[in-house]
Amino acid sequence: MPFGRHIQTGATVCCDPISWYQRANLIGNPSVFFLGRPGLGKTSAVMRMAVGLAGMGVSPLVLGDTRPDYIRMVEQLGGQVIPLGRHRGSLNVLDPGEAPQAAARLRSAGYDQAADEVLADAQGLRLNMVLSLITVLRKSEPTARESTILSRAIDWLDEHHDGVPLIPDLLQVVRAAPPELREAALDRGTTSKYQAITEELEASLVALCPGGKFGDVFARPTTQPMRRDRAVVYDVSAIPQSDADLRAVALLASWSAGFAVVKTAQTLADFDLEARRHYFVILDELHQALKAGPGLVDRVDYLTRLNRTVGVGLAMITHTMKDLRSLPYEEDRQKAMGFIERSGLVVCGGLPFSEMPLLSSIVSLSGAEQDLLGGWQDPPAWDSKEGQQAPPPGRGKFLVKVGGRPGIPVDLVLTAAERSLHMSAARWTDQSRTGRIEEGTPA
Ligand SMILES: Nc1ncnc2c1ncn2[C@@H]1O[C@H](COP(=O)(O)OP(=O)(O)OP(=O)(O)O)[C@@H](O)[C@H]1O
Ligand SMILES: [Mg+2]
Repeated sequence: MPFGRHIQTGATVCCDPISWYQRANLIGNPSVFFLGRPGLGKTSAVMRMAVGLAGMGVSPLVLGDTRPDYIRMVEQLGGQVIPLGRHRGSLNVLDPGEAPQAAARLRSAGYDQAADEVLADAQGLRLNMVLSLITVLRKSEPTARESTILSRAIDWLDEHHDGVPLIPDLLQVVRAAPPELREAALDRGTTSKYQAITEELEASLVALCPGGKFGDVFARPTTQPMRRDRAVVYDVSAIPQSDADLRAVALLASWSAGFAVVKTAQTLADFDLEARRHYFVILDELHQALKAGPGLVDRVDYLTRLNRTVGVGLAMITHTMKDLRSLPYEEDRQKAMGFIERSGLVVCGGLPFSEMPLLSSIVSLSGAEQDLLGGWQDPPAWDSKEGQQAPPPGRGKFLVKVGGRPGIPVDLVLTAAERSLHMSAARWTDQSRTGRIEEGTPA
C-alpha cells in the first residue's frame, strides 16, 4: 500500500504488513506495532493500510473502537458496525459462534480431527473470556481449580443445555454441582465442601449476571453476530472512559469474537470448504485493555500467538513504551514487550527522549533515529501571521523499522477523502462550523 514519501529522498514508500510478509518477503510475521505520542496520526496511518488492503481483498477487522475512529471507514467499505455497551448491544461470551456449524461441515467432509480442533479452540476462547471477566471483576486471577470447574461447566452445558448458553446458565450448573464439577472441585464427596470451594466463583458469576457490574453486556444473547465476509468494527465508544473495566472487557470480548471468526474461516479454507479470505486485524489503544487487570496480557498474548498460526495481518497501536512498562506485574511487562519483539514491523511516530533507552533495548535505534523521533514530538508552533497554531511537526511522520536495519523515515500526507474519514477531526470541524453559524445567525 502506498504509505507515504521517504523524508530524505521523496521516493514513494509502499508499506503494509501483509504485502511485506506475503509478497515482498521482507518480514517474518505479518504484523505491525505502532508507537507514538497522541494525535500524531497513528490511527490515520493504520486506516490507510486498512483501506489499501481492503482494495486488495483483505477484510479489515477493527476489534474494539473506543473513540469511535473507524466507523466511517467501515461504513464506506460496506462493512458491519457492531455496537457494544449498556443498552446498545451485547455479546454473549458463551456463544460458540459458527464453530459448531463449521465443525459439522468438517465432519461431514471426513475431517474429524479438524472438527475437534475447531470445537476445542472455541471452547478455549470461551473459557478464556469467562476467566477474563472474573479477573477484571476481582482484580486477581481465578485459581487453577476454579478454571477447571468452569471449563467442565462449559463442557457440561454444551452436552446438556438446549440452545446457546448464557452466564446465568453457567451459574446454575455450578450451583447444581453435577458429578463432573464435583470431581474437579475435589470436594471428596462432601456437599458442604463443594459449596465452600465454589463460593467465590458463585459470587463472581452472580456479579456477571444481568444487573451486575457489567450490566447485561456479556450475559445476554449476542445482538449482532459478526460476519466473516466483510469489514467489521466493534464500536465500544458508548462505554464511558470512566468505566475502564467495562471498556477493557468489551475490547477483549471483541478480540476474542473476532479471532474466533477468523480461525473458523481459515480452517474451512484449509480444507477447501470455503474460499480463502484474508483479514487485517486492528487492535487500537492496546494499553487501555492491558491495564485493566492482572493476567489480561496473557489473554492478549494467547490471541496474538493465535494470529501467527491463523495467518492474519495484525496491527497493534499504543502510545508509549511507558504505557506498557507501567503494568503492575513484571511478568505482564515482559509479555507486553514481547508483542513488540514479535511484530514483523515496528512503526514509530514522535516519542519523548525518555522512551529511547527502553525502546532501543527492543528495537535498535541509532542516535540519528532517536533524534528524529524526539524532534517529532515537539509541540506545534504558533503562527503569529496566520493567528493560528501550525500543525505539530511530527504529524504524519513515521520511522518504519524492521529488526536491526536502518529505519525508513516516511511522511504521510492525508488525502481529502482520508481526512473526511476521520471522525474526531470531523467532530471538531462540525463544532466550529456550528459555532460560526450561530454567531452569524441574526437574533
Ligand atoms: N498525516 C496527517 N496529515 C495531516 N493530519 C493528520 C495526519 N494524520 C492525522 N492527522 C490528523 O490528526 C488528528 C489525529 O490523528 P489520529 O487520530 O490518527 O492520531 P493518533 O496518533 O491515532 O492519536 P491518538 O494517540 O490520540 O489515538 C486527526 O484529526 C487527523 O485527521
Ligand atoms: Mg488513535
